[in-house]
Amino acid sequence: MTLEKIVLETSTIPRVDLDFMNHTHFEEVEMVEQVGQLVKAFQDGTTHSEKQLADITAALEDWVQHTQEHFKRENTLMLDTGFPAYPTHSGEHEKVMVEMQAVANHWKENSDIDTLAEYVFSLWPEWFNAHVNSMDMMTAKFAMMQGYSAE
Ligand SMILES: [Fe+2]
Ligand SMILES: [Fe+2]
Repeated sequence: MTLEKIVLETSTIPRVDLDFMNHTHFEEVEMVEQVGQLVKAFQDGTTHSEKQLADITAALEDWVQHTQEHFKRENTLMLDTGFPAYPTHSGEHEKVMVEMQAVANHWKENSDIDTLAEYVFSLWPEWFNAHVNSMDMMTAKFAMMQGYSAE
């Protein structure tokens, strides 16, 4: 299967009105780029060491943790500012968290690089771009309209 590979870059992802959110998004895009490099090296190699498997697992765990904190902070912002679409936005976070954890677990149990690659190079980047461009954008705009200012 040939996938169209999407590698997001910090310079081209959508910007929102709150710097702390942009900062988190940049960090996340950089983390995913690192995961992507490990995945590509694994796919390109003819032999695979235990270290390669462990490095991918560790990078995935860091990514999952970063995403948990990312979503938690946005959920708190929405509650603090009374964002009306909280259920939709936080619901999407919840759904994606479940998916991401399932992808990480599937990798840990099966070392299935193709499924992981599809997530990292296609499903996640598409979702992330669309989410930042809609939910996150509206959340930040609304927070600014409410006079929210980050510390
Ligand atoms: Fe976000
Ligand atoms: Fe979000």
